[in-house]
Amino acid sequence: MSVDIRFRFTRHPLSITAHAIGSSTLHLSQSDLLLLILSIYALVLMNKMSSSVEKRFQDDADKYATYLETPEGRLRLDLAFANVQELLPQATRSLHALDLGGGTGALAVRLARLGFHVTLLDMSLPMLEYAKRAAHEAEVAERVVLKHGEAAELSGLFDAGSLGLILCHNLLEFVDDPSAVLRSAARALRDSGLISILVRNRPGEVLKAALLSGDLAAAQNSLIADWGEESLYGGRVRLFTAENLLAMLEEASLEVIVERGVRIVSDYLPPTISRADEYERIFDLERKLGSRPEFSAVARYTHILARRAVR
Ligand SMILES: C[S@@+](CC[C@H](N)C(=O)[O-])C[C@H]1O[C@@H](n2cnc3c(N)ncnc32)[C@H](O)[C@@H]1O
Repeated sequence: MSVDIRFRFTRHPLSITAHAIGSSTLHLSQSDLLLLILSIYALVLMNKMSSSVEKRFQDDADKYATYLETPEGRLRLDLAFANVQELLPQATRSLHALDLGGGTGALAVRLARLGFHVTLLDMSLPMLEYAKRAAHEAEVAERVVLKHGEAAELSGLFDAGSLGLILCHNLLEFVDDPSAVLRSAARALRDSGLISILVRNRPGEVLKAALLSGDLAAAQNSLIADWGEESLYGGRVRLFTAENLLAMLEEASLEVIVERGVRIVSDYLPPTISRADEYERIFDLERKLGSRPEFSAVARYTHILARRAVR
């Protein structure tokens, strides 16, 4: 009797084919059975993770859009965009930019205002609805293309060497394979193209737990955690260290140009300081701290601007 069991690992349910030839009795060795159980378990976990990420951004697009209006949300957007603008080429009109996991379109619209032709790729239709409204309101709709899709499918969507700029802000925390996304992004960049990557910084989670929540146990755990808790929508969020992010960039043949920290002290200011009234002063201080390595090491977010390494 021969048994042929095939597993296909996709983002969607496991497919198993079993052909039993010659007898209706199926004999699996203990190790085969263990492998089968582990595979099913891994798939259930993967599916659960992907669908919870999808659900989060489908159901909570409103919550996210509201967050971006708060001083914390604005600071993250404004600080990251200021870093990107420092390195943008002067003549941008003809350049094609991609905002990968671009969400509500807050940054895609800013790029379009600078003259970029921007494609915003996102897996959440409600997020894309926000982006559509934002592009219309800013009167840049003719320069913004909205694409509903998966970051993992990037390499099939854009020609190699076709993009002048890629934003990848707060996306890698949620994808199944951040290294693969970075490799595809690097391939899509043209020779002088720039990629901007913003990710959650693990040391920042330690300070947040200790200083914001006063949770010393969580602070200790965060020292070595690969995942944190997403306070806005619940669920897990991948944490990055400078070392693992730099290793991923190197593997994707991306060369770091600058590394900055985003939101270093603003989350921990005493309540006597109004985040809204003092926004400009907080922004200025954050800009200065963010470019100093001794402070950026503990920022809430790490921001890297990189180019494709010469081939
Ligand atoms: C935290 S939001 C960041 C949005 C935007 N980049 C910003 O900085 O405001 C993450 C976005 O990535 C999208 N996203 C998450 N996983 C994705 C995936 N695998 N493929 C495409 N988009 C994804 C979500 O729908 C959401 O809009």
